[in-house]
Amino acid sequence: MKKDGIKVVTIGGGSSYTPELVEGFIKRYHELPVRELWLVDIPEGEEKLKIVGELAKRMVKKAGIPMEIHLTLDRREALKGADFVTTQLRVGLLDARIKDEKIPLKYGVIGQETNGPGGLFKALRTIPVILDIAKDMAELCPDAWLINFTNPAGMVTEALLRYGAIKKVIGLCNVPVGMHMGVAKMLGVQSQRVRIDFAGLNHMVFGLNVYLDGEKITDKLIELMTGGTPSGITPANIPDLEWEKDFIKALGILPCPYHRYYYQTSKMLEQELESFQKEGTRAEVVKKIEEELFELYKDPNLDIKPPQLEKRGGAYYSDAACNLISSIYNDKGDIQPVNTRNNGAIASIPDESAVEISCVITKEGPKPIAIGDLPIPVRGLVQQIKSFERVTVEAAVTGDYHKALLAMTINPLVPSDTIAKQILDEMLEAHKEYLPQFFKPKSDNQ
Ligand code: G6P
Repeated sequence: MKKDGIKVVTIGGGSSYTPELVEGFIKRYHELPVRELWLVDIPEGEEKLKIVGELAKRMVKKAGIPMEIHLTLDRREALKGADFVTTQLRVGLLDARIKDEKIPLKYGVIGQETNGPGGLFKALRTIPVILDIAKDMAELCPDAWLINFTNPAGMVTEALLRYGAIKKVIGLCNVPVGMHMGVAKMLGVQSQRVRIDFAGLNHMVFGLNVYLDGEKITDKLIELMTGGTPSGITPANIPDLEWEKDFIKALGILPCPYHRYYYQTSKMLEQELESFQKEGTRAEVVKKIEEELFELYKDPNLDIKPPQLEKRGGAYYSDAACNLISSIYNDKGDIQPVNTRNNGAIASIPDESAVEISCVITKEGPKPIAIGDLPIPVRGLVQQIKSFERVTVEAAVTGDYHKALLAMTINPLVPSDTIAKQILDEMLEAHKEYLPQFFKPKSDNQ
């Protein structure tokens, strides 16, 4: 890696989240000199790419730093000689997410972007595209790190680790960072004084121990959580339903906001149906927020990240991304939670599977900190989700209908094999355009 400046390529660069990333790089320019930032998109995203790209240029100009912003629809051109590649794309755009969220609801099943049937289908659409990007990287920038935020980040990382053409792969999510910030807020202290041992899977991660100034305070935090102190942990896209206090006491570790889908399934479904009636699915709400954001981004006088971006669920994602990239670049050896190869860090998860866990970050990448094993009460659920993720990855890679049915049926949010098959069939048809692996033309001798 060049010490005099690095090249970052962001695929899905036309995303409304991009100003976050640009702000993150600007803030850290003194330690992380990003000299070239290439924002890449597809033809359908060209208009958004131009709008957000122009805003990025104004932000950089205002900051007075020599960061070149390049906008392109040519991914291969952009990838040449990259040091870091970040992926934040959405196959099928928000319209596909609307289907992921809406169709399961008809069957009385939670419709969510990364959990249940929605997560399964987002994985089926996304994994082949990301594996293609990895192939291009192997050819055009074999030494670069791929940092993926594209959801479902856990399954995408699992697929890259098992089938990717490159080894330097990390999955990233804002949930652990959000938990960290939320805990600091609850304690009324600066976040640097708090440390959390994270372990689990993406959107299924637990805070096993919480420390303040190095002293373990997990029990005190649980007391606060059950004593009515607002947590501020939950991102904008998830209803902040209260936990059953005695349950949290009994659990004794910090769940992530997404655990509500599993421990509060019926309440979450009720809530989802209610907001669906009122304002449509989350993706429909996000579509409106995006329209407003892009209107703001068009303003030639705007040269900062507008605060309205905080209405999106991905707050802090740029902190997670830029801190990670900076720690690799500067060989910091600090601790950050990322999605990486388990390598025995959690005993009950296969070594070669992706886990979301606190890692020491050096220029060699993340080294997970071994925890022994997860506590018995959560171990089973985590393993079940990992089985779902592995079968989903197999289905995404092979386009095998039966594997997809298996994945749908073993997901804990799907109540029966019959309903699983009904949802699967309807969703396969609805997403046909983005699932070529399931609709291969039959050859003559078949
Ligand atoms: C959370 C998740 C992200 C997800 C986002 C969705 O923060 O951790 O993985 O992308 O919310 O937010 P949105 O505003 O798109 O509903």
